[in-house]
Amino acid sequence: MKNIKAFVFDAYGTLFDVFSVSKKCEELFPSKGDQISQSWRKKQLEYSYLRQMMGNYRPFSEVTRDALRYAVEEAKTELSHENEEILLEAYQQLDVYEEVPKVLKELKAQGMTLAIFSNGSHDMLDPLVKQSPLSEHLDYIISADDIKQFKPSPAAYTHALDFLELKREEVLFMSSNGWDISGAKNYGFHTAWINRNENPVEKLNLHPDSIYHELSGITSWS
Ligand code: LAC
Repeated sequence: MKNIKAFVFDAYGTLFDVFSVSKKCEELFPSKGDQISQSWRKKQLEYSYLRQMMGNYRPFSEVTRDALRYAVEEAKTELSHENEEILLEAYQQLDVYEEVPKVLKELKAQGMTLAIFSNGSHDMLDPLVKQSPLSEHLDYIISADDIKQFKPSPAAYTHALDFLELKREEVLFMSSNGWDISGAKNYGFHTAWINRNENPVEKLNLHPDSIYHELSGITSWS
């Protein structure tokens, strides 16, 4: 029997659509918007892995800004201070995926503890959640920035577990990111991979406990 006491969600790509900024990117960089937004996300994650491995932590808000600067330069175009601010502001107004508010509402009604656990720093996450329809359903926003260790390091997942004062087997962790759900499996959480882009399972011998195309299926865990 599953003894799940907390449903813990990754934020970017899982609850919030990081590519909802690509519209703004296309507006500011016509014909290069999609290329820039894809490269921006890829480099944002790459820099978080590199900084974690190097022991050279900087908040995810800075990593996100630096990744944007790289993506624009890679596209051989310019980023004005004003456009940088516009795009970073847009990152605090990402769309939520369609099914998310309904699923969180249903889980809350069943008395579950609901939390975000993200590499995002609070200066990014708090305004993002506040302007979204999710704030009324979420009990906690937990950030890797609290301990300055990025996921998928075990130290990061330990922080979320300590914050919730639960045992590993009492947590169901959900992420759309293969690297993140692998990290959570490696750590010992129950894991539900929200495989929105129908990617292959990461070849890390850390198979998720369950796989869904979107969030609706996870209510079977409650
Ligand atoms: C998160 C990003 C990295 O932790 O997916 O929310």
